Amino acid sequence: MKLPAATLGMAALAVAEVAMSNPSATGSISRAPFGVTPQGVPVEIYTLRNPLGMEVRIATYGGTVVSLTAPDREGHFTDVVLGFDSLDGYVKASPYFGAIIGRYGNRIAHGRFSLEGHSYQLATNNGPNSLHGGKVGFDKVVWTVAHSGLGSLGPQLILTYLSRDGEEGYPGNLSVTTTYTLLNDKNALQIEYSASTDKTTIVNLTHHSYFNLRGGEGDVLGYSLQIHADYFTPVDATLIPTGERRSVAGTPFDFRLLRFIGSRIGSADEQLKFGRGYDHNWITGVPRAGMGVRHYVRVNATVLDPVSGRVLQVSSSEPGLQFYSGNFLDGSLKGKGGRTYGFRSGFCLEPQHFPDSPNHPNFPSTVLKPGETYRSTLIYQLAVN
Ligand code: GLA
Repeated sequence: MKLPAATLGMAALAVAEVAMSNPSATGSISRAPFGVTPQGVPVEIYTLRNPLGMEVRIATYGGTVVSLTAPDREGHFTDVVLGFDSLDGYVKASPYFGAIIGRYGNRIAHGRFSLEGHSYQLATNNGPNSLHGGKVGFDKVVWTVAHSGLGSLGPQLILTYLSRDGEEGYPGNLSVTTTYTLLNDKNALQIEYSASTDKTTIVNLTHHSYFNLRGGEGDVLGYSLQIHADYFTPVDATLIPTGERRSVAGTPFDFRLLRFIGSRIGSADEQLKFGRGYDHNWITGVPRAGMGVRHYVRVNATVLDPVSGRVLQVSSSEPGLQFYSGNFLDGSLKGKGGRTYGFRSGFCLEPQHFPDSPNHPNFPSTVLKPGETYRSTLIYQLAVN
């Protein structure tokens, strides 16, 4: 969780500032209004383009990736993430489409945990549990733009948010920075998180884009998936990890070689029943003593759509990867262009620390202390096959 100061993020930022004054820098970035929240806060949307033609639109509400384009094998670009045309959709009933997730990605059992002898009770919003930061997580707040410009790596948007001591029940003022860079030399969106606190707290940030590699058409069951993990963390009926580290061998959770998402999703398996499909954390980090991991960016998973030829590769510095097969989508949401999003019409790959880690001393720690810096890097790269 803790990295030395000289990370890619710091280096990238320094280079970006130099390159901003260089008019020949490639790519572009522009901004436009994106409405006003019910609380009267104006929201902006930034459009970042790289020289290869990829475009990402990011709203300051939730730091939301509203759209992300990628070419198919004929070179036709289409938007590969689910979402809404306007702010309204995101404010009313979004299942975390494209958003920054925090202060704690995924579930904490009964919203309860203890730190340094104090017990904390979080807002619960998912049955008995706290999910994705509580009632008003980082996906539902308006982030401040700290910087936008062209860097040598590509167009870059830096958002900040100060989560106050006691917000949603979490201790400590947590100062968070999210840096989005659309890389110039490949069709990849890099997301870097950093955070610091003034009181011992927990933090586990992730990104929640729902991918549909056919521009929002159909379901994702015919895509093939590879996850670089020998183990996953099984859950109970409320999707809280039992604490077990279970081998994927011989189970429908074995994606060590490419397998269709849909090929075993209907198996009679208790874990699949609990998740209504896949909604689990795979252990993608390299285990060390105490299940700790090394902190370098490595490939976690790859998804291939045989029809369009689009390939998504997800890399991160995180020890876990939540693969969610869109099991709660039910066709009731009207998305972009009036399209309805049916059952399993999008999948999420969320690099993160393990769900409910504060209640599992054998999981990699999510504790952040004053004076430490939390850092995490996620890369979503699109290619063709
Ligand atoms: C995560 C969770 C899922 C679900 C989605 C949002 O992936 O693990 O259970 O809550 O977010 O609907």
